[in-house]
Amino acid sequence: MYDFTGRTVVVTGGTGVLGQAMVQALVGCGANVAVIARSPAKADAQLSALQGSGRARAVPGDVLNKESLAQAAQAVVQKFGRVDCLLNGAGGNHPSATTKPDLSFFDMPEEALRFVFDLNMLGTILPSQIFGRQMAAQAEGVILNVSSMSALRPLTRVLGYSAAKAGVNSFTQWLAVHLAQEYSPRIRVNAIAPGFFLTEQNRFLLTDQETGALTARGQSIINHTPMGRFGAPDDLLGTMLWLLSPASSFVTGIVVPVDGGFSAFGGV
Ligand SMILES: NC(=O)c1ccc[n+]([C@@H]2O[C@H](COP(=O)([O-])OP(=O)(O)OC[C@H]3O[C@@H](n4cnc5c(N)ncnc54)[C@H](OP(=O)(O)O)[C@@H]3O)[C@@H](O)[C@H]2O)c1
Repeated sequence: MYDFTGRTVVVTGGTGVLGQAMVQALVGCGANVAVIARSPAKADAQLSALQGSGRARAVPGDVLNKESLAQAAQAVVQKFGRVDCLLNGAGGNHPSATTKPDLSFFDMPEEALRFVFDLNMLGTILPSQIFGRQMAAQAEGVILNVSSMSALRPLTRVLGYSAAKAGVNSFTQWLAVHLAQEYSPRIRVNAIAPGFFLTEQNRFLLTDQETGALTARGQSIINHTPMGRFGAPDDLLGTMLWLLSPASSFVTGIVVPVDGGFSAFGGV
């Protein structure tokens, strides 16, 4: 069930910390992988290091530009014939969409909030429109969105990103029902919600730059994670492969937390 030979997976955010691990796993499972990238040169350099890189291609595209996505879709079909799966991995935060000692909720700039809502919400919806249309035409396909633990339980300070990822969860459920009812019950839509992963973006929020020891926030996260550690990119791969593969053929409209138990823990 996890042999993706002959199947084409389109990935956005494939040059990111988590995205790279996912692309690597998909290539390793035999998939043809098209990485939609704003900088195809960067993506190509990453892909060329992979075993099986002949089946992986960087395709120019911006998840916030529908025209570029339409062109990317044409390029993918030209290269691989069809699209079986879409992995919406592009996403992220903006420093000014998070409250800080010198930035209150009341002063949070509109542009920062728009940036985060656009990237996470529209950046998931627009590729789903473009590649979902192809799935509707072939009456078959799988979309996997990347949400976050902060969608289920909004994180203190992190306003924009928590709200945007909650929107991704809602969209996941909506689109699952819509595509199954209006187009084909063989089109599935799910999401994966990573918990806390130590990445370059948050490393110095969670660990001390000089000593590497946990910061108060980092320690608080570990205290609320029953498994007692941060996630590593490889922790996502089993869930990703399950949701993209026929192993989950009767699963649609769910968001799977991969969070070491964080969302299950009441704190006592
Ligand atoms: N890291 C975590 O701890 C964590 C936890 C929960 C959820 N997540 C979610 O998991 C996903 C991947 O996270 P990550 O840590 O791997 O992120 P990352 O390292 O910051 O990478 C972000 C990716 O999104 C791409 N991207 C950003 N804007 C884009 C645009 N307009 N068009 C096309 N691509 C764009 C980036 O491409 P470029 O190479 O062009 O910049 C990059 O590939 C995101 O949705 C994130 O919100 C992450």
